[in-house]
Amino acid sequence: MLKGKHIILGITGSIAAYKSAVLCRLLVAAGAEVKVVMTPLAKQFITPLTMATVSQNPILVEFFNPENGEWNSHVKLGEWADLYLIAPASANTMAKMAHGVADNLLLTTYLSARCPVAVAPAMDLDMYAHAATQRNMAQLRQDGVHIIEPGSGFLASGLIGKGRMAEPADIVAAVEQLFEKKKSSLACRRFLVTAGATIEAIDPVRFISNHSSGKMGYAVAEALGARGAEVVLVSGRTSLDTPHGVQRIDVLSAEQMYNECKNRFAECDGAVMCAAVADYTPAAVADHKLKKGDGEMNIPLKRTRDIAAELGANKGGRLLVGFAMETENEVENAQGKLARKNFDFIVLNSLKKEGAGFRGDTNVVTLIDSERGVELPLMSKREVAEKIVDKIENIINSK
Ligand code: PMT
Repeated sequence: MLKGKHIILGITGSIAAYKSAVLCRLLVAAGAEVKVVMTPLAKQFITPLTMATVSQNPILVEFFNPENGEWNSHVKLGEWADLYLIAPASANTMAKMAHGVADNLLLTTYLSARCPVAVAPAMDLDMYAHAATQRNMAQLRQDGVHIIEPGSGFLASGLIGKGRMAEPADIVAAVEQLFEKKKSSLACRRFLVTAGATIEAIDPVRFISNHSSGKMGYAVAEALGARGAEVVLVSGRTSLDTPHGVQRIDVLSAEQMYNECKNRFAECDGAVMCAAVADYTPAAVADHKLKKGDGEMNIPLKRTRDIAAELGANKGGRLLVGFAMETENEVENAQGKLARKNFDFIVLNSLKKEGAGFRGDTNVVTLIDSERGVELPLMSKREVAEKIVDKIENIINSK
């Protein structure tokens, strides 16, 4: 369950920090990659050397390395993570989180994190029971933070009561449950995904097409399916295998893709339009191989239907996500398509960015909705797909 997951482990100043080493070890043993962020006070309770050794990664405490000025980017860290787990979370840190205070790296990382956040509180029983702490925890719950309840027992103060950080093995179980929940978060939802290039025949031998391999669209279909959604993948020609559990319908031309999409969309909760669809097709397809002559050849072209725009005009309460492959005025052009095609958001990729676009296994995208654009770093297409599906989930959950 945790294999390959990226987890930031935040450690605050609490005596329970001694358990963070065991927690980190268990996460790493379960296959997670762990990066540790500590508050300056946490270093008094457990050493960075211990945490660096068990996490197999350098520890992050300051905004920059005072030795060489190297910047510890909380934004990049927040984007890297699949989960931000703060254990132990002191009353002080939870209060700051509840109010958006950003006076250390652990807190700025919290404000930048786009992934789920979980906290395992640890404090004395009276601090835990105090109305202010309970108010702050209620605020954090409202902000979507998962609270891993503390246990009851002996506390560092010598008192007995509720406030002990949950045991490391129980925290790992809670983390696994979080990922499990995410896995089925789109159960009972149905999505249409288009992928790959269309092929517009000129004659029985030749055609007009483009460089789309289908990788980006297939990754989206896979990511939706992995979260429990039923997925219908309308696919142009590709050499890719069908993702597990996905229903695939093969098409060639833009017209065939349109015909498959128009009826199926009505039965879906949403669609992700990743295919690179021809905007023009030969006005007539020759029924024999065209012979070459001495002069130039002109092939009259006619417009294809804009599948996404037609779905957008009839989308009702459904969710519609578009892609834009641009080579100039990227953001402006993508915003134009967002509005014209009635997308909820659009995924912009530009041929000008290294590692982005057709055929490769990576992409560099900006997710643009009517309010803002969020530029993501270079990622694998599967990771980009996860980010797209995260945004889809956020929109569905806020409706
Ligand atoms: O397949 P890969 O090799 O992995 O490459 C991925 C990709 C570059 C093809 C993908 O990331 C991408 O950008 N897909 C959309 C490319 C594109 O044709 O964009 P567009 O700007 O022309 O179209 C805008 C939107 O309208 C897209 O969602 C497109 O699917 C849709 N459209 C366009 C024309 C048309 N006739 N019907 C449509 O539905």
